[in-house]
Amino acid sequence: MINFKSYNPTRIIFGRDTYKKVGEEVQNYGKKVLMVYGGKSLKANGTYDEVVKSLEAAGIEFCELEGVKPNPRLSLVYEGIQLAREQKVDLILAVGGGSVIDTAKAVAAGMCYDGDVWDFYSTEKQPKLVMPVGVVLTIPAAGSESSDGSVITKEEGLLKRSCCTDLFFPKFAILDPQLCFTLPPHQISAGGCDILAHVMERYFVPDDHHDFSDRLCEAAMISLIENLPKVLENKKDYDAWAEIMWIGNIAHNGLLGRGKRDDWGSHDIEHQLSAHYDIAHGAGLAIIFPAWMKYVWKEKPEMMEQYALRVWHVSPEGKTQEEVVLEGIQKTEDFYHSIGLATRLSGVGIDDRDFAVMAKKAVMSGPLGNFKKLYAEDVKKIYEISL
Ligand code: NZQ
Ligand code: ZN
Repeated sequence: MINFKSYNPTRIIFGRDTYKKVGEEVQNYGKKVLMVYGGKSLKANGTYDEVVKSLEAAGIEFCELEGVKPNPRLSLVYEGIQLAREQKVDLILAVGGGSVIDTAKAVAAGMCYDGDVWDFYSTEKQPKLVMPVGVVLTIPAAGSESSDGSVITKEEGLLKRSCCTDLFFPKFAILDPQLCFTLPPHQISAGGCDILAHVMERYFVPDDHHDFSDRLCEAAMISLIENLPKVLENKKDYDAWAEIMWIGNIAHNGLLGRGKRDDWGSHDIEHQLSAHYDIAHGAGLAIIFPAWMKYVWKEKPEMMEQYALRVWHVSPEGKTQEEVVLEGIQKTEDFYHSIGLATRLSGVGIDDRDFAVMAKKAVMSGPLGNFKKLYAEDVKKIYEISL
């Protein structure tokens, strides 16, 4: 196990009807908030009304930044910064998923910075001050509700980039599994795939001696694989949603990566896909992750073998290590198919025309990953495998 520091200050408020008390939580940070949210879902399912009711009951004034799109855009972040400054808000309240939360974080950083907030996403520059962010989570997926990251897309040049800083941990995150009941099946599956990927990025690592951490990761993966089909079958299965929401949070709050070097190659490779083709991040990962595994497994075959044996219960009898590993990867793909996700670019209508340019963009800040260092030519090969 390598040396590590562990820090995650986000207060998690979990369970039935917790979002109806968001106003009380906000009171700890001031009297005026900017509420950030996405498209139609919030008003259609009644979440908007409940949040507003709770803010009003707590005497909180609010203004609104609506219209955050999946793969959130920088132009809306600029609008949010202007609004938050004009209104002199005390807290940015994100009500939604990763795209909404990441927009809220970017606004929170931009509000306290005289330059262009994109500096934090495109250079080494780090925010020195960030307004407090609170979250009501409506989709378990990105894990941004208690992560240190924010991922924003700059429309000009189709650049999807992230910024990570301890200042981006939200002050609080409210996780009410009931809010997931209205999620469309594709979002459920894409979100689940993102959660699985957050665990796998921390599981396939170059270091040794992290048994406890491996077992935590395996528990998260096995439980997720068991519970996702349940909510696809019955959208109102509270107990299964509770498991998924909690796993989604733990998968990306840092815990599972302690004492080892995470990979994140697949994420950076996927981000180019969602920047260029505007597909859901999790759907992109269902395509990229198996291709990445096929490309890198020989770097540390015993790790991929352990994954096949412990997570997918592949029987090793009469099989070579390579056969066990490849069966584990096949089972991963089979699972994605079973929840309605494509595992090939051709399955989502993407061809090879942008491979070279996406590969170049993926390594813009240097080679990717730790399990195997990936350069532009490696990334291009992974796109080719995923075709
Ligand atoms: O816009 P509305 O109408 O609200 O619909 C949203 C959106 O279309 C819908 N939705 C959310 N909650 C719903 C709902 N529909 C019905 N009922 C509900 N309760 O879901 C759609 C997707 O929302 P989005 O916020 O984009 O999903 P997700 O949470 O998957 O976030 C994806 C973004 O997060 C980034 C991704 O790259 C992507 O841009 N990530 C952020 C990370 C971080 N900050 O730590 C880490 C991740 O690896 C990821 O990169
Ligand atoms: Zn992700």
